[in-house]
Amino acid sequence: MSAILETHGASIFHLLCIGTSLAVAFSVLDGSRFGYHPSCMALAYLLFMAEGALTAIKFRSLEGPERTTAIWKHASLQSLGVLFAIIGFYAIYTNKSIHGKPHFTSYHSYAGLLAFVLAIVAPLGGAVSFKRLGLLTRLPQQHWAPIKYVHRKVGQVTVFVGLLAIVLALTHKAVYLGIVSYLLQLCVLAVAAYLAHTLVHFSSASMLPMSSQKPN
Ligand code: HEM
Ligand code: HEM
Repeated sequence: MSAILETHGASIFHLLCIGTSLAVAFSVLDGSRFGYHPSCMALAYLLFMAEGALTAIKFRSLEGPERTTAIWKHASLQSLGVLFAIIGFYAIYTNKSIHGKPHFTSYHSYAGLLAFVLAIVAPLGGAVSFKRLGLLTRLPQQHWAPIKYVHRKVGQVTVFVGLLAIVLALTHKAVYLGIVSYLLQLCVLAVAAYLAHTLVHFSSASMLPMSSQKPN
């Protein structure tokens, strides 16, 4: 099992992120205002943010221009994710208001609200953490490592809470597809499990104590 993960894990992860987010997006996109919510949210968290998080975990071990390129890739994926999350949030919030329904009444909506707030906060820490943007170097050096640490943790929690919100939503009666909904839940859980596995693997490789010293 672990040999399969070593050799094919990343490819399976990419396939699951792309396939599952597109499956959710197209199964609910019907031109209604509501339809934009699941579609945009699946692309935001399951495609862009999950892929962006994997990129970030993997650039821990890189140096120099390779690391800078990977951070730009991470920042671009996460910015796209945040953009889709804003559209998805706007779609559901205004849809509920238009239909006179109360807001934030389910476990999905609690997790979703938390994931959305975190997705707004996380890029701020990311922008400060990226030395190239010039904000980090304006702060005393003893704050650099804690700032990066906070961004890493906020970023990780954002992605996992987002994936949890998707799992909770998939069996909601508005989007229920029978056995397909449970299969999609399994795919989302597999994405979360691979991310968690990679995080643990890279943490034990102890790349982090150096990260505040890296030149970008
Ligand atoms: C991480 C991604 C997601 C986030 C952050 C999120 C966020 C939210 C929030 C905050 C609400 C409550 C809005 C309000 O009360 O005004 C909500 C409602 C809803 N969402 Fe999502 N959502 C996500 C993904 C999905 C997906 C993938 C689906 C469907 C497959 C979905 C289906 C629904 C439905 C049916 C509602 C209305 C019922 C309820 O409030 O629980 N959501 N979502
Ligand atoms: C919702 C938006 C974002 C999320 C969810 C997110 C998530 C993450 C995660 C999970 C990590 C840590 C991976 C690990 O454990 O090593 C990370 C690291 C990082 N991110 Fe982000 N990120 C976001 C936005 C951004 C943006 C916009 C930038 C840059 C402009 C950025 C720059 C960085 C940098 C520089 C690191 C490495 C910090 C270090 O040296 O330890 N992030 N991000």
